[in-house]
Amino acid sequence: MYNEIDLDKIDIHSEPPTEEPGRQYYFIGKCREWGEGFRRKNGRFPRACVTTFGCQMNARDSEKLSGVLQKSGFETAQEEAADFIIYNTCTVRDNANQKVYGRLGVLHGYKRRNPHLKIALCGCMMQEPSVIEKIRKSYGFVDLLFGTHNLYKFAELLYTCLTCEGLVMDIWQDTDKVVEDLPTEQKYRFKSGINIMYGCNNFCSYCIVPYVRGRERSREAADILEEVRRLAADGVTEIMLLGQNVNSYGKNLKHPLSFAGLLQEVEQIPGIRRIRFMTPHPKDLSDELIGVMRDSEKICRHLHLPLQSGSSRILQAMNRRYTKEQYLSLTEKIRREIPELSITTDIIVGFPGETAQDVEDTIDVVRKVGFDNAFTFIYSKRTGTPAAAMENQVPADEVKENFDRLLHVVQETAKQRTARFLGQEAQVLVEDVNEHDSRLLTGRMSCNMLVHFPGGRELIGQYVTVRLEECKGFYYMGQEKKAWQN
Ligand code: 5AD
Ligand code: SF4
Repeated sequence: MYNEIDLDKIDIHSEPPTEEPGRQYYFIGKCREWGEGFRRKNGRFPRACVTTFGCQMNARDSEKLSGVLQKSGFETAQEEAADFIIYNTCTVRDNANQKVYGRLGVLHGYKRRNPHLKIALCGCMMQEPSVIEKIRKSYGFVDLLFGTHNLYKFAELLYTCLTCEGLVMDIWQDTDKVVEDLPTEQKYRFKSGINIMYGCNNFCSYCIVPYVRGRERSREAADILEEVRRLAADGVTEIMLLGQNVNSYGKNLKHPLSFAGLLQEVEQIPGIRRIRFMTPHPKDLSDELIGVMRDSEKICRHLHLPLQSGSSRILQAMNRRYTKEQYLSLTEKIRREIPELSITTDIIVGFPGETAQDVEDTIDVVRKVGFDNAFTFIYSKRTGTPAAAMENQVPADEVKENFDRLLHVVQETAKQRTARFLGQEAQVLVEDVNEHDSRLLTGRMSCNMLVHFPGGRELIGQYVTVRLEECKGFYYMGQEKKAWQN
């Protein structure tokens, strides 16, 4: 990271500083000292395991948690062998919550075997009072709870947790703070997510995010650009700009800058070869942004544009602030300007009051737009959101029927659409050895599609030209150009 503080220069025997991020570096120093004591006693450094649930924002937050743990002297381990386990939770749908409760049962078993194990929970779920109540009542073995607004205080909370008995809990209702310059530990050395804004002001009626992530706050453009420059200097070539609604970036800044303007600035940074972003809202997608994407060499040929529903009536009840027709004309315009662009989306089925006819409207949009992929979700009632209080909740069997009908069309259209690359060459950024077959590598195309092809791990982090030989629906099998030319 940039402007990083020299840990050896911090006097950890004086009082902690009051300003941030200096205070957190002080506590990292204290944790290191604690880790030394652990090593003298146990003959090894303490081990930690970070588990992430949910979206890219959480994945990036987890890199910050890992950064603090690593700087504090923790080694990385699997859950079974860890001395400190932290779950960074998601609450966007109830099944994410249920997964956490299920896994907590397993952690309780580990704790019985190793009473010194410390268990921490953080992230979106912790911003819900009912969750905190449940954890305190039924999962009394948890040692540390904190939320989304004070994640930057992790070093301090970690130190308190390591040195105290009993539950440590620090949950804030909201914040207007953006704390810069904390350490991060990146999952990949060649690609990285970067927060450009936090929170959301849209209040879609089904969505809990505005309640658990707070009001929209943009980071200063200078801080974002400096972070991108540092990442590029460290060898990162692909970046993803992250925010709940990236196209309202910059509105509350001292020097307002549009999201399209920010993209143009990022584009100038040498070393960056690919730029992605997540997630734009259709209501705010400007012509300026379409133009910047069209003219860019670096912005990837992929747009994730959540539809949620194709029925104007349901869209209004969802508070999405666009109609079916507006979404269709927006995607037509985008396709006209950037024909090669892949468009993906999110769709919710079973929103209160949704009829089979509404789902037909959604299916109609899916057919007309021809999404490269669509993530389809069954509506999940989130306590505290306006939709949870709506009386016309749809019976589960009806939702299931509608969901299956939609999924069938989504799969058909996506298959047809993604097959358009068959036989072509594509440049891929090699991300990893294939999960299931170690003779294969997995790379990502500009349009976000994965390609698996034979190759050695020395290609990880490299851009390789691959011939796309077989379309498997949502991914391709291919051959590296060099290999098939020989
Ligand atoms: N139920 C189902 N899906 C939801 N999403 C957000 N809230 C809910 C909910 N209550 C989906 C939306 C969003 C994606 C990240 O999660 O489709 O785009
Ligand atoms: Fe939730 Fe809507 Fe904000 Fe997305 S834009 S995070 S769906 S409230």
